[in-house]
Amino acid sequence: MCGIVGYVGRAQGSPDGAQPHGHSALDVLLEGLRRLEYRGYDSAGVAVLTDNGVESRKKAGKLSNLEAELKEHPLPESMTGIGHTRWATHGGPTDRNAHPHVVAGGSLAVIHNGIIENFAEHKAQLIADGVEFLSETDTEVAAALLAKVYETEAKGDLTKALQLTSQRLEGAFTLLAIHKDHPGVVVASRRNSPLVIGLGEGENFLGSDVSGFIDFTKRAVELEQDQVVTITPESFEITDFAGNAAEGKEFTVSWDAAAAEKDGFPSFMEKEIHDQPEAVLQTLLGRSDIEGRLTLDEMRIDPEELKKIDKIIVLACGTSAYAGHVAKYAIETWCRIPTEVELAHEFRYREPIITPTTLVVSLSQSGETMDTLMAVRYAKEQGARTMAICNTNGSTIPRESDAVLYTHAGPEIAVASTKAFLAQIVAAYLLGLYLAQLRGNKFQGEIKDILADLGKIPAKIQQILDGDSAIKELARSMKDAESVLFLGRHVGFPVALEGALKLKEIAYIHAEGFAAGELKHGPIALIEEGQPVFVVVPSPRGRDSLHSKVVSNIQEIRARGARTFVIAEEGDEAVKAYAEQVFSIPETQPLLAPLLAIVPLQIFAAELAGAKGYDVDQPRNLAKSVTVE
Ligand code: AGP
Repeated sequence: MCGIVGYVGRAQGSPDGAQPHGHSALDVLLEGLRRLEYRGYDSAGVAVLTDNGVESRKKAGKLSNLEAELKEHPLPESMTGIGHTRWATHGGPTDRNAHPHVVAGGSLAVIHNGIIENFAEHKAQLIADGVEFLSETDTEVAAALLAKVYETEAKGDLTKALQLTSQRLEGAFTLLAIHKDHPGVVVASRRNSPLVIGLGEGENFLGSDVSGFIDFTKRAVELEQDQVVTITPESFEITDFAGNAAEGKEFTVSWDAAAAEKDGFPSFMEKEIHDQPEAVLQTLLGRSDIEGRLTLDEMRIDPEELKKIDKIIVLACGTSAYAGHVAKYAIETWCRIPTEVELAHEFRYREPIITPTTLVVSLSQSGETMDTLMAVRYAKEQGARTMAICNTNGSTIPRESDAVLYTHAGPEIAVASTKAFLAQIVAAYLLGLYLAQLRGNKFQGEIKDILADLGKIPAKIQQILDGDSAIKELARSMKDAESVLFLGRHVGFPVALEGALKLKEIAYIHAEGFAAGELKHGPIALIEEGQPVFVVVPSPRGRDSLHSKVVSNIQEIRARGARTFVIAEEGDEAVKAYAEQVFSIPETQPLLAPLLAIVPLQIFAAELAGAKGYDVDQPRNLAKSVTVE
């Protein structure tokens, strides 16, 4: 949930007389925190090691508040430091609760991401030992425990102190620490919370994800569950919590710094909506050969095992769950395997029926959503095979799954998911086609035809983006709307749900998505004069009965005074008589239509939120990665 950065660089006049390498720690920390601010922005803080020991500055609110504080109270130059942006869990977003927490007479600074579930018992013991706490946070307890262990058991060995302390903490934590007696060293540990190491020349980095150091290096090593790492300018050493040495798996980050910039758009969200053609293209790239045979490189489950799969359960939250609902239609149609879609936070509490021939597929852009991670762990305990569809390389959910299919949407900075949503759907289509290919449900030629149609989607999305002025104009005209309804049927139903969620989360407008067929079972009572309703209409070339039923729905609500805004396939004449406005999308196979139908609704939400003057990228109360249950 929080953004974390750590840095060590070779200081001027280092003992080995080496040339000064690297950067000022503060520059690295602030640059990293700027990129990570989407992970949480209730407060921000930094701590550096100087000749006077640990020096720290921290402020509630956005990173800009900390930058103002640093201007007023500058820190001395340093080559070692840690930085943190917070999404409050224990204790409100105040200066006092902001990280870093500096303890033990100013000798030790700690930052933390996660929730320490047994902090209360440690806090009681530490208070009994005479420790006075300044904040309400679990982090300060962890810091005080580390200081105590450092003095009493580890005898000044900072790495050992963190190993011992980490063994005693339960829940989810990424901890970073610096100590006045250890210049040029940052230690860190992780359990159920992310941390990656960035490798430089004469400098090394730590980040809650690669965005924390992407401006300085693209070489990264993922830290595994229950590991401690000690970084210096020349080295990084990984151990488990018992102190046994461990190897790190290095990977190269494919994102460049520019990819995380806005490219001139008013918000990351609008940039990312326009990234969608590329996100779909990149997710398709390299996953099939010229014969149209799918080659999913990260599928680490034996094909013979996959052939025996007799049930698929898709686990996700929010927008990712709606991607799962779209995937269900495609997977069941193409490979005839019963597919359930479950909200991850509901899944493990309903005693689900799981067997070794159940494939549990998690959908997660961040790969760190705690609800989804815990559900995947539960499924594994119950014997299921697990597969992650994820957009963040090196994140926890794919690392803990048997197989992974990475989406290649690039960094999605805006809290509201757009390009990752489309990429998830594409990846789920690839999975469905792969299973169909493996099990012989589809001829190779049929699969090739579907892949060919998928290959045309990026250009069709671009066509919608190029013609977005009408939907933007409508959005601006509706900036004072108090409620908007969304109707859809078949694969259009999850599109209606997602369109409503976009409006809720960035424009703070009451919005609700319904299955169009459900209207007469209650929701039609909501229809009154002037009620705006978007209707996602299936292709007239698909099942005619479906199309005509939805046209009837438009007629019913129009007759009751609704303002009907229709998303329909180019050339669909039947809707025009009942629509106040039609937003056409290019023709494609019915099962692929969600990749196009959602785009006008994304644009509508972003434009309306912008017209209301809201922060489109960092909406209130939300964070990009929900790493608490
Ligand atoms: C999407 O716009 C929201 N930010 C939210 O619903 C998100 O999809 C959900 O929290 C799941 O996140 P994940 O994909 O990173 O697991």
